Amino acid sequence: METPTPSPTFYVREVPVYGDVMLAPMDGYTDMPFRALCAEFGSAMSYTEFISADSVVHFDARDDITRRKLQFDARERVRVVQIYGHDEEHLVRAALRIQEEGIDILDLNLGCPVRDITARGAGAGMLRQPATIARVMERLTRALRVPVSAKIRLGWDEQTRNYLEVARILQDAGASLIAVHARTRAQGYTGTADWHAIAEIKQAVKIPVLGNGDVKTVADIARIKAQTGCDGVMIGRAAIGNPWIFARQERAQIAPAERIAVMRRHLAHHLEFYGATRGLILFRKHAYRYVQGERGAAALRHALMLCNDVREFERLLDEFVRSLPA
Ligand SMILES: Cc1cc2nc3c(=O)[nH]c(=O)nc-3n(C[C@H](O)[C@H](O)[C@H](O)COP(=O)(O)O)c2cc1C
Repeated sequence: METPTPSPTFYVREVPVYGDVMLAPMDGYTDMPFRALCAEFGSAMSYTEFISADSVVHFDARDDITRRKLQFDARERVRVVQIYGHDEEHLVRAALRIQEEGIDILDLNLGCPVRDITARGAGAGMLRQPATIARVMERLTRALRVPVSAKIRLGWDEQTRNYLEVARILQDAGASLIAVHARTRAQGYTGTADWHAIAEIKQAVKIPVLGNGDVKTVADIARIKAQTGCDGVMIGRAAIGNPWIFARQERAQIAPAERIAVMRRHLAHHLEFYGATRGLILFRKHAYRYVQGERGAAALRHALMLCNDVREFERLLDEFVRSLPA
């Protein structure tokens, strides 16, 4: 008997999205191996780390970093490449070039709080210039075949929370989805995310809205959906070392040996992607989070952070698994 095909949870213009939880873009974390793993556990969309439009415009085949950032795995379903920049011409040229990679959606970063980036009017810096947002989004949506989305913060600071204005501008300029990290730029990652603002945005626009900020547990997924009516829930920090959240399973409920087994699978793909030496160094921050809070794993955590050798890394994990109660 044929299993019925599930219907999409929502559409980004004509792109169907199956599922309502997705991994948030995180520079330094959401590379292909981690996104593919999260997709396998149920993350419904795959956003790349942010990529500088300038780096794409000046891209040549030798630019290993940009090339890697633009790669996707077969397990990733809705492929979203996120770009940032201040030069309108470069943003459009970069977007056109990226479109040729076979992506599903092009996303514009309007939330990055890093000073060097905002000072030039890119990332969250663009929230201070709504007219620029309108122009850039119009140019992107006119130039591209694929739908264009944006990821925003609530405004520059407490005095300029212009999220409703920005959300309407994005929609009017042709954007097909808005992801909202419910903090201002001035807040950085402090304070609590204001989910009420996400609810206001959802009320104000017709395009799908993703709610983001401080979703830490499986119960939080239902809470943010109920409080905001958002179409999807984007999870960042709480997904590091915890792909199970996309299967709506609490990490604490997963047996330690199973957690280590998944981490090893992640590690293997990661080493294949980056090569052994660089791969292991880059993997340590993931490893730390996989074993964080694990009982009796303080020594393991410490040893993993100092380890430079793949075989020794594997041996440390073997030893830890053998020490677990049957
Ligand atoms: C290390 C790190 C890197 C991030 N890089 C990006 C990025 O490249 N693009 C982006 O739109 N947001 C980025 N963010 C913001 C996250 O996507 C997300 O909006 C934020 O962490 C709040 O969600 P959370 O509480 O679930 O972590 C980053 C966050 C962190 C912690």
